[in-house]
Amino acid sequence: MRGETVSATDHPEGERLRGRIAEELARARSRTALLTEAVDDDDLMRQHSPLMSPLVWDLAHVGNQEELWLVRDVGGREPVRCDIDELYDAFKQPRRDRPALPLLPPAEARAYLGTVRDKVHDLLDAVSFTDRPLVADGFAFGMIVQHEQQHDETMLATHQLRAGAAVLHAPPPPEPTARVGGEVLVPAGEFTMGTDTDPWALDNERPAHRVDLPAYVIDATPVTNGEYEAFIADGGYADPRWWSAEGWEHRVSEQLVAPMHWRRDGDGWAYRRFGRWDPVRPDEPVVHVCFHEAQAYAAWAGKRLPTEAEWEKAARWDPATGRSRRYPWGDGDPTEAHANLDQRHLRPAPVGAYPAGASPLGVHQLIGDVWEWTSTTFRGHPGFTAFPYREYSEVFFGDDYRVLRGGSFGTDRSACRGTFRNWDYPIRRQIFSGFRCARDAGPDESHR
Ligand code: AVJ
Ligand code: FE
Repeated sequence: MRGETVSATDHPEGERLRGRIAEELARARSRTALLTEAVDDDDLMRQHSPLMSPLVWDLAHVGNQEELWLVRDVGGREPVRCDIDELYDAFKQPRRDRPALPLLPPAEARAYLGTVRDKVHDLLDAVSFTDRPLVADGFAFGMIVQHEQQHDETMLATHQLRAGAAVLHAPPPPEPTARVGGEVLVPAGEFTMGTDTDPWALDNERPAHRVDLPAYVIDATPVTNGEYEAFIADGGYADPRWWSAEGWEHRVSEQLVAPMHWRRDGDGWAYRRFGRWDPVRPDEPVVHVCFHEAQAYAAWAGKRLPTEAEWEKAARWDPATGRSRRYPWGDGDPTEAHANLDQRHLRPAPVGAYPAGASPLGVHQLIGDVWEWTSTTFRGHPGFTAFPYREYSEVFFGDDYRVLRGGSFGTDRSACRGTFRNWDYPIRRQIFSGFRCARDAGPDESHR
């Protein structure tokens, strides 16, 4: 727990933590290597979409953040390279301008990351996990692991936008072993949202607080391609009734007719996935839809998007104990049996593929597969304090962003929890975003 004093050098608990940090750093780095070694230098330097950085920018930015927080702040060491801080500051350099910057070429970027990482191992050997909040429970290391993994998901999204033949390969996800679908009733009452105790939870997940919700009904699975195709076939994209005013304006100006990366294929649709066209599989969660498309689908279905609190109660609340758990299946870390995470399969799994990952109320695939849009704008939980820097979350609070929950097939397990919060503009769909629907419980249902 944060606040407990654990010294790496004199305490077995500290030894274990050090080992775990080293493992997590290595796991992140091997993913970063895979994503940046899959293409040649020219492809690494090029901008594949104005929405994204050149891959080589993400690469050196990951090393620069590691240098700033671990080498300089935690370790109090001399800078490795302070001449490049500005280049890799996401706030000083908008994504569209990044390809024109004098970026480190791939070989130099890799060497830089290696030098920084060597220094981090050196200071990790000596660090004492003291009361200083930045290092208590290894938080700063956990933050940097999650930062690298978040950029690895961003780099995966860049690969999805890249033209050209497939360079990333992965085994398919498991087939369904359960028939799941329909809706789940969540009874009225309080639950605990957010956390005070998860040691690597980021500032926006804190503090824990009680939230009282009326009874509601939530889909047992994310909305599938097959269900979404029915919305398209019914003229959903041509009927302003289903869209918000802002959503309709966006749909018209961008001429949206289907999820991103879809094209007509005979009577049906095909989907371009990492450089390969496949027929759309009806029982897979729909991915690459923006918030406006999700909201329109929900209205067409006679439902609405869940609020963020509804999503979290469905994912964490255990009716047997009244406690909120770290994950739908309990407090234990995700395994291959629980959720489609870690870029293991590079596609969402069909619904019913993860019965072991269901919540006690029977809600499936909340973690992994696709990020789920909620109707909630991004704000601090009551009692929020920025930690360790305002630029991680606080500067994004307000009405411009909607919260997404649960992680995708592209998210690493270190950067995904029942409390983890992601956010993006409501028009964005280059991320691995899908959704599920909810609705208010009717008077008969709530007394069942
Ligand atoms: C939490 C995914 C919205 O990518 O903009 C990476 C994560 N913050 N570097 C983002 C992040 C700083 C962030 N998201
Ligand atoms: Fe970053």
